[in-house]
Amino acid sequence: MPHSLVWRLKAVTIMLALMTLPAAASEARLEPLPAPAPVRAALVELGRHLFFESRLSGDGSRSCATCHQPAKGFDDGQALSRGYNGTEYFRNAPGLLSVRLKSRLMWDGRYSGADLAAVVREMLTDGQFMNGEVRVMEERIRQIPPLLALWRRAFGQASEPRPEQIFESITEYLRSLDFADTIVDSELRGATTALPPAVHEGLQLFIGKAHCIACHSGPLLSDGKPHRLGVADPVALSREPLRTISLLRYYTNMGLPNVMRERGDVGVYAVSKNPADRGRFITPGLRGLVHTGPYMHNGRYDSLEAVVDFHNDGGGSGSELRPLYLTVRERQALVAFLRSLSAPLPRVAVPPAFDYGLIDEASR
Ligand code: HEC
Ligand code: HEC
Repeated sequence: MPHSLVWRLKAVTIMLALMTLPAAASEARLEPLPAPAPVRAALVELGRHLFFESRLSGDGSRSCATCHQPAKGFDDGQALSRGYNGTEYFRNAPGLLSVRLKSRLMWDGRYSGADLAAVVREMLTDGQFMNGEVRVMEERIRQIPPLLALWRRAFGQASEPRPEQIFESITEYLRSLDFADTIVDSELRGATTALPPAVHEGLQLFIGKAHCIACHSGPLLSDGKPHRLGVADPVALSREPLRTISLLRYYTNMGLPNVMRERGDVGVYAVSKNPADRGRFITPGLRGLVHTGPYMHNGRYDSLEAVVDFHNDGGGSGSELRPLYLTVRERQALVAFLRSLSAPLPRVAVPPAFDYGLIDEASR
């Protein structure tokens, strides 16, 4: 056999092997949290300061931590996120712990998990979130001496603030934030100590009769894929003009056809333009939920009980779910299992807000 053909055959065999891999690996299962990501400490430290730095926003009114509060699992505790001053947003702010493990970002998955820095850029610069202008951000950092010192520790003594590196250092900080292990992680790692009975029953239902695992799998309990549960739009979306304006402005940005005919949140459809994706949202992870209510892409439900009931009823209109007919006891067990997936939140040290330095005579 000519040498090149042998190689080509080998390549085909490898390709076939790779193609069959996902099928085997997609066997839905729960996984414990992986080891922390390797991170660059100096960038994390700078990123932590920038995460709490409200002077990155256009009018200095808000930082990332305004909408992603560490004490609330890095969300804001509201059903629908407020937007930048003078706007209101149309979705719930997600928590940020272990965001590095997500395969799609944003409720409609408009970014891949690999593009975390692009999400940080959108948060900083978009008129809906922080309305920051990159030259203004650079200059403000330059004029805060302790922040500039942290910058130079991260990027070198001769470095100057640059937008790409602002995004990079905040991204590095996000990559350092992880959920803590829970008793379920110990169980998944083969610990011998038994789970509390209700949690054990909930876990069995989750992976068995209640089929939750069909969509909530892996270390975050999310398949990272879009699904339609038919969660109804909250009245605020149509009653509060500022929210409708944000929604329609977003659709126009995304190049959605017939924008003015839309009112509700169309979800993944705004990204893919495929009508089948209308009303689909990326499956959220299920860790840390006791800290991050209200739930769903629009904060429609206040309690885990209500979310489980909604799934049990087969969801709302057009839902992919089927009614489960679980008993009260079984639903309580599922809630007990969901609660057991929330470890105490990591302690986050809020950095001080440094003053602007005086501009010395020589540099005027
Ligand atoms: C005005 C409130 C607000 C501010 C300020 C804000 N965010 Fe967000 N953030 C949101 C909302 C709302 C979403 C969800 C948007 C969507 O899905 O359409 C979000 C989504 C995200 C996501 C994607 C999470 C996921 O699970 O998909 C990340 C990461 C993120 N924000 C980080 C940041 C960082 C870093 C900052 C500061 C640079 C920041 N945010 C500032 C409200 C805010
Ligand atoms: C067909 C896929 C699918 C199945 C099966 C499924 N879910 Fe969900 N789940 C989702 C999606 C998608 C959302 C978000 C829906 C939205 O916001 O519109 C969600 C939301 C949730 C939330 C709210 C999380 C948050 O942060 O807002 C919880 C809790 C939840 N599911 C638990 C369960 C439980 C328990 C089961 C089994 C009884 C289950 N899910 C079965 C897809 C699914």
